[in-house]
Amino acid sequence: MSLENMVIPEHVAVILDGNGRWAKKRGIPRAMGHKAGCETLEKMVRIASDAGIRYFTVYGFSTENWKRSQEEVGALMQLFRYYMVRLLKIASANNVRVKMIGDKTRFAPDIIKGIDDLVESTRDNTGMTFVIAINYGGRDEIVRAARKLVKSYQESGRDSESISEAEFASFLDTADIPDPDLMIRTSGELRLSNYLLWQMAYGELYVTDCLWPDFNKEELEKAIAAYNKRERRFGGRV
Ligand code: IPE
Ligand code: IPE
Ligand code: MG
Repeated sequence: MSLENMVIPEHVAVILDGNGRWAKKRGIPRAMGHKAGCETLEKMVRIASDAGIRYFTVYGFSTENWKRSQEEVGALMQLFRYYMVRLLKIASANNVRVKMIGDKTRFAPDIIKGIDDLVESTRDNTGMTFVIAINYGGRDEIVRAARKLVKSYQESGRDSESISEAEFASFLDTADIPDPDLMIRTSGELRLSNYLLWQMAYGELYVTDCLWPDFNKEELEKAIAAYNKRERRFGGRV
């Protein structure tokens, strides 16, 4: 398959699911599945950028994922530490700008510093924007936005009747990021799992049974081909 003559969605969001199932199939620990998932992610950043995608947003850790076993959460934190450093090299080599959405305040100080360094040192890159959603939850994001909005209205004394959708959106973590055109979920689950609730009002959904560690260029091309067959309604470019 080739992407020739296809409309490339400007913003692709991904729910990278299935690391655990991938490991289970092989009879290896879940942490090994997450490691394989990180390797796939590393490859997909370059592949998405080469495909001409302008914004690529991946769900790395949800506000609900803290409820997993201490062992699994610990393994994920170690992977963040390791892959953040690798990501800095990949982003720099591919002119990729990294952004983070979610509430980073819950992470250990060294992880927060790693995120800040990654964002800061890639901020002037002009290629694809790679958005990492960690400790992200759509509801949490909306509540945090509401708090900021209320504070700003209290300070300015403006009438709350003037709040528009656009103004509300400007308080979300995704303030300067266009809404996703296409959301891909791997591993077959048919739900949003608290991902980009506001932003996905009209985004197209594509679900594949492919487990995230097995995801690759061909799978991305299949998703983009399916997107090109959709008849979009509001807010679409196809
Ligand atoms: C997705 O894989 C990665 C994260 C949520 C961090 P899962 O760990 O959810 O994999 P499954 O759903 O158990 O297969
Ligand atoms: C969604 O996957 C979160 C991430 C990919 C980080 P989950 O595996 O956590 O979602 P549920 O539990 O199946 O809804
Ligand atoms: Mg899962």
